[in-house]
Amino acid sequence: MQLTRLIYCSKLCPLSTGSIEKILESSRRYNTSNAITGILLFNGTFFLQCLEGGRIAVNETYCRILHDDRHIESVLLSYETIDRREFGDWAMGYVAWTKDLRPIIRAYSITDEFSPYQLSGSSALGLLRELSTKVASC
Ligand SMILES: Cc1cc2nc3c(=O)[nH]c(=O)nc-3n(C[C@H](O)[C@H](O)[C@H](O)COP(=O)(O)O)c2cc1C
Repeated sequence: MQLTRLIYCSKLCPLSTGSIEKILESSRRYNTSNAITGILLFNGTFFLQCLEGGRIAVNETYCRILHDDRHIESVLLSYETIDRREFGDWAMGYVAWTKDLRPIIRAYSITDEFSPYQLSGSSALGLLRELSTKVASC
């Protein structure tokens, strides 16, 4: 199995009526059965997500996510073969947006605003690594 890490960002569809809880519930259910782990940050507008797992499982999951009309403007930030998982503790760890995150976000942003589309692949991974200490226990 080629262990693979994929990171992308996207934007909440303004017409979406879905909730983050519903997204997390189905993500965790599918990911558990596909041996996918990862982390998701959502600030009310943007998503930044990392998927880790077998190459085929990661590709199939990302294809499903791409076709999900709850979000738009998905951009692939990083795709690589890895030796070990960085976010292996979570079927999908969720980082809830709070003001405590500001100093971490600021260190990875040009402006004060969270702008995931401007992140390089390695910065996106670095940011998610730092945010992994803030994963909610829900
Ligand atoms: C921002 C976002 C992140 C998602 N993350 C995952 C995920 O990690 N794993 C997953 O299986 N589905 C994820 N989904 C849900 C999928 O898009 C899809 O609804 C789900 O896999 C069920 O697929 P199906 O409707 O074809 O059965 C995510 C959706 C969104 C909008």
